[in-house]
Amino acid sequence: MIIAVVNSKGGVGKSTLAGSLAAWLHELGHRVVLADCDSQNSSSEWIAEASPHVKIVRYETPDAVLEGLPQQRKEADYIVCDGPGSQTETSRALLLWADLAIIPCKASMFEARALAKNTAFVRQAQTIRKGPPLAVAVLSMVGKDFRLTKDMRDAADALKLPLATTHITLRQAYADAPGQSTLVWRMSSREKEAAKEIDTLFRELIPEAANTNVVGATRAKAKLRANSKR
Ligand SMILES: Nc1ncnc2c1ncn2[C@@H]1O[C@H](COP(=O)(O)OP(=O)(O)OP(=O)(O)O)[C@@H](O)[C@H]1O
Ligand SMILES: [Mg+2]
Repeated sequence: MIIAVVNSKGGVGKSTLAGSLAAWLHELGHRVVLADCDSQNSSSEWIAEASPHVKIVRYETPDAVLEGLPQQRKEADYIVCDGPGSQTETSRALLLWADLAIIPCKASMFEARALAKNTAFVRQAQTIRKGPPLAVAVLSMVGKDFRLTKDMRDAADALKLPLATTHITLRQAYADAPGQSTLVWRMSSREKEAAKEIDTLFRELIPEAANTNVVGATRAKAKLRANSKR
């Protein structure tokens, strides 16, 4: 499955979400590639230290994306792509391959209105590909007292973008985790709520990934088979 975290608006939480998702999937036992498509390399530098067994590739041009992603698919269960903040052509290339597009969006009316412009390439890809990728918006950096306003819901509805029920709250832990080469769920127990919300969000977005019994059982069987051949 190719998952693209995209929004051509900068600073909305793409790298934070993509890096966390890659590490989360890896910890569930999946084979994961993090494809960092942003020349700032924020998510790949962070995850190389925080979750060193996640394979990392870097694609900085649309051609690199178009040619590289199908290669990775052969050896990975999930390829999580961290989209760039500006180069829309690279995002466009990502969406030609993606099965799922996750679109983080800050929870303000201005941001919700800008979403139409910043996600036009999502709808273009869906039209060309006659359906895929599935796309879902995730409200990020949501304040504690936030209430989803009707205006914001209307903006998402007008774009025909489903909004994830779980939001990502504005919390220092998310900003601190990369500097400490860690992930929010490995931080002190004070960060329990961050750990819980991100796990809930990922389970909502990719429910099949969390079916660890199936994954665990398949892995255990494969190991048994390999051992019995020795
Ligand atoms: N939920 C959050 N709470 C607090 N800070 C956050 C949260 N999510 C992200 N941040 C911080 O906000 C900044 C922007 O986040 P991030 O780099 O993930 O956005 P981005 O969309 O990838 O940006 P760019 O478009 O520049 O690549 C970073 O400093 C990050 O640590
Ligand atoms: Mg980024």
